[in-house]
Amino acid sequence: MPEIFSRIVGTGSALPKRSVSNVALACELAQRGVETSDEWIRTRTGIENRYLAEESETTTVLAERAARMALESARIAPEDVDLIVVATTTPDQVFPSTACQLQARLKAKKGAAFDIQAVCAGFVYAVSVADAMIRTGVYRNALVVGADVMSRLIDWSDRTTCVLFGDGAGAVVLAASEKPGVLAAKMASNGELGMDVLSCPGRMEGGALNGDGFLRMDGQQVFRTAVGMMTESAKEVLAMAALTIEDVDRYVPHQANLRIMQKIAEKLGLPDEQVVVTVTRHGNTSAASVPLALDSAVREGKIQEGDAVLMQAVGAGMAWGSLLVRF
Ligand code: UT7
Repeated sequence: MPEIFSRIVGTGSALPKRSVSNVALACELAQRGVETSDEWIRTRTGIENRYLAEESETTTVLAERAARMALESARIAPEDVDLIVVATTTPDQVFPSTACQLQARLKAKKGAAFDIQAVCAGFVYAVSVADAMIRTGVYRNALVVGADVMSRLIDWSDRTTCVLFGDGAGAVVLAASEKPGVLAAKMASNGELGMDVLSCPGRMEGGALNGDGFLRMDGQQVFRTAVGMMTESAKEVLAMAALTIEDVDRYVPHQANLRIMQKIAEKLGLPDEQVVVTVTRHGNTSAASVPLALDSAVREGKIQEGDAVLMQAVGAGMAWGSLLVRF
């Protein structure tokens, strides 16, 4: 029996309708007595714009739009999907899982559907898990979605977080192949580091929220930790695939802060032109950030067949990971 690999055979993405520039956001926040500026946001983060969901633009709605686009580009019908894995931290309800809700919307009755909760690293985790499941030979394909409506968790009076996030979804279809696609995948986490630096500590209890339901972050601490983690994680997947940084054609990092991305690229020796940047347009969309950036790059022709693409994400947990994928 030849070895089974998984390949990315389709990508898709979805954004809410409402686009909000830094200037517009700063004006809205000023009316609430929160002081910020386009200049601060741009110079500290690279963000110029984000998309914010309306009530009807739920995580499942955005996930479905991205999923249909990815399935269409993969030429796979929803009824032929073996496995649905959704990475999200902002499900529309506590349960059933977003993946099961998506499965119902797609009328994809075959196979299994489940969620992965690894916050910003969720998509990298979801692809790692789906790749491993396809390699077993039990599943022939997988729809993997990263979808988040982080604006629902934002405290609009906290300027240290409210300017950073946006909403969206991205998706890929993985299919079994005799040719390697996912060359290496590595997930990592360190729970001890995570509790105080990035969290949303509240829980549902007695029919209501018990505790703080807002996202809280020590940005500087995350910044410092993220750079080291991502650099080491990239080296790990390159070693696993017996490749060097010179073999990488495109770098699709988690889109949280342009300065973080540039620092990691510099440490790895990757030229700026190889870095896919969408944080400027989308802000930080958590689990959607990598697949949104990936789909943009594919549709803009920046990723061609045969290219080696390094994808990475890091976030609350702390949880992080890297994927090295041949297109
Ligand atoms: O997706 C999960 C992973 N998350 C990340 O990767 C986020 C990582 N962290 C970051 O991206 C950066 O740390 C931030 C963008 C969050 C903050 O940038 P920074 O350069 O670390 O700024 P800082 O927190 O040191 O704040 C500098 C100053 C402070 O004022 P003082 O104390 O120096 O007077 C803040 O109060 O900027 C002030 N500040 C703001 N000013 C205007 C903080 N937020 C704002 C704001 N507008 N929105």
